[in-house]
Amino acid sequence: MKRLTYITAVLATGVIIMSSCHNKRSPGSVYMPDMAYSRAYESYAKRDSTKFTTDPAKRGSSLIYFDNMPAEGTIKRGELFPYTLPNDSIGYAKSAMVKNPLDSVTMSKEEMTETARLFNINCAICHGEKGTANGPLATSGKVGGVANLTGDVYVKMADGTMFHSITYGRNNMGSYASQLDRKQRWMIVKYIRTLQPKATAPAAEPVTAAKADSTAAKKG
Ligand code: HEC
Repeated sequence: MKRLTYITAVLATGVIIMSSCHNKRSPGSVYMPDMAYSRAYESYAKRDSTKFTTDPAKRGSSLIYFDNMPAEGTIKRGELFPYTLPNDSIGYAKSAMVKNPLDSVTMSKEEMTETARLFNINCAICHGEKGTANGPLATSGKVGGVANLTGDVYVKMADGTMFHSITYGRNNMGSYASQLDRKQRWMIVKYIRTLQPKATAPAAEPVTAAKADSTAAKKG
């Protein structure tokens, strides 16, 4: 009897070993189907209308509501908070009060290089690499009234106003909200500042600070 059990065990093991390696790409006999075949929802697969609905009115019924959109108020990791001023003249006027959230952040060399790249791809075609409105679309006359970002008006223009215009567009310039995320747009505003000559008239504070620095440097 003992021997019979032994032989059966050896045969069974043999059969299992033989049957498990005839085709590397096949999972063989599936013993836990959920592990072998994913039940996850496939993003672009056709949705089974007996289970899912995209109609918000049917939310909460026996159907599962799913519209591929992230939940309202979702902010992607690393992204800044939403910009809430509306795209109208009041929003434009108020935008001057919005501070650049990256003001106190010193951008790394890599970030500066990346921002220059983004500016050259998206903006230089009109504004030119140096912001002086000599991009090909401006010089060829295809787009009129391109702003010279190094001009006095733009040196004095608030960061928030620039951000507002980059977000919503302005006259002949389109919106860049879908091409550049909020952080990238604020980074570009900082980058524009580096293209500009230093502000002369209203920059009382930085001048004193610079003076204080130079006196401190002389003393030290
Ligand atoms: C198709 C050409 C074009 C492109 C591309 C373009 N701009 Fe402009 N931009 C303009 C024109 C034209 C104006 C002047 C709008 C006006 O005041 O009539 C302008 C104005 C501006 C202003 C001043 C806005 C204001 O409120 O007066 C800023 C800042 C600016 N652009 C930044 C950018 C940045 C940053 C990019 C790239 C993300 C960009 N622009 C891409 C054409 C362009």
